[in-house]
Amino acid sequence: MNVLIIGGGGREHALAWKIAQSPLVKRLYCAPGNPGIAAHATCAPVTATDIPGLLALAKVHAIDLTVVGPEDPLAHGLVDQFEAAGFTAFGPSAKAAQLEASKAFAKHIMAKYGIPTAEYAEFSNAEEAVAYVKRKGAPIVVKADGLAAGKGVTVASDVDAAIAAIRAAMVDHAFGQAGRRVVIEERLVGEEASILAFTDGKTVVPMPPSQDHKAVFDNDEGPNTGGMGAYAPAPVVSEALLEEIVETVLKPCVQGMANEGIAYRGVLYAGLMITESGPKVIEFNCRFGDPETQVVLPLLQSDLVPVLAACCDGTLDQVALDWAPCACASVVMTSKGYPGPYSKGKPIEGIGAAEKEGVSVFHAGTKKTEGTLVTHGGRVLNVTATDATLPAALQKAYAGVENITFEGAHFRRDIGRKALERLGMEGSADR
Ligand code: AMP
Ligand code: GLY
Repeated sequence: MNVLIIGGGGREHALAWKIAQSPLVKRLYCAPGNPGIAAHATCAPVTATDIPGLLALAKVHAIDLTVVGPEDPLAHGLVDQFEAAGFTAFGPSAKAAQLEASKAFAKHIMAKYGIPTAEYAEFSNAEEAVAYVKRKGAPIVVKADGLAAGKGVTVASDVDAAIAAIRAAMVDHAFGQAGRRVVIEERLVGEEASILAFTDGKTVVPMPPSQDHKAVFDNDEGPNTGGMGAYAPAPVVSEALLEEIVETVLKPCVQGMANEGIAYRGVLYAGLMITESGPKVIEFNCRFGDPETQVVLPLLQSDLVPVLAACCDGTLDQVALDWAPCACASVVMTSKGYPGPYSKGKPIEGIGAAEKEGVSVFHAGTKKTEGTLVTHGGRVLNVTATDATLPAALQKAYAGVENITFEGAHFRRDIGRKALERLGMEGSADR
């Protein structure tokens, strides 16, 4: 079959790397792709949000299965439009994608179906929001309702910071339409984990738990980014806890959406806080996580393509997934200055030396100019390694990082440290 992947970051590189291994795939395309993805797929210069352009591409190349990476095209109805045109696309419909695209919608679903989450209130009037914050006090969390590219959340440690966040979203329109409404919620305390699950709208199959590292500097300091690294499996989620999350979060969510008349198909991603009183949902995402996908897919021993197809046609209960009893870690290398302003076009060297057995360098923000690979984004590369244990995988990933150079390269040196501490292996984290 012919497969089209939509997107052009590290997540899509990991998808392309995995899908290209499927014996079912005849031709693999990616739009827009990147120089790393070009090793596995034919890249077409169509942006991920140009739905008519992508549909035209699907027609020209007789695409049998389209796999959507980012949330924007999902929220804009890519899957609906592809299905209306007779194509099969992996991912939720626009209605189902509201679970990520509207935090207020997600909160309604959680409240209605008893899914554990932070206590909250929603506002479309700034003065009412400010009064609520003054009444509740800090710490408190202010979230723009809509998609804000990961920047719409403020965890405020004092009331003034919360009020500033409300004003930025609702008065200064820092996030455009996305900030017209805000959700204000209780701050949860604990360790975070990401649970990605495949679903066809009925059956829910979780992937191994993973953990992202959002802050730009070691020890979770500095501003939040799109993700500075990840590892899987995350020991903060034991097998028993994963089972509990499937039963109390994922299944009620998919079933609740079905009750609302909305079939949820694709990946359901629960961002969780593991609190003293159990797992609570921070957010739902309607797609594969980035960089979580980069550490989860290398552990999948089964062919991914039949799993994706089964999610689309409602036969996920007939598919078995095998996961390697190994660990995977990914270190994100970023441009200097990210997540603030950064420069592009810095030549990258050493990827070939970094890629040894069990090490893949997924491209997140790169470009080829006149035959030279250069930086082209805030997140540039995901140096990813698989090994029998997490300490070994981390060591291998960091050895890969040592091989790679570009001007101003930054990376966190403590990816996986929380897991190593939990596993009683703190010493292994010293580098
Ligand atoms: P989100 O965009 O909803 O994933 O939020 C971004 C980050 O903000 C999360 O990964 C958490 O680290 C933090 N965060 C969001 N909501 C809460 C909350 N209720 N309590 C504590 N931290 C939160
Ligand atoms: N890892 C965070 C995200 O994919 O939204």
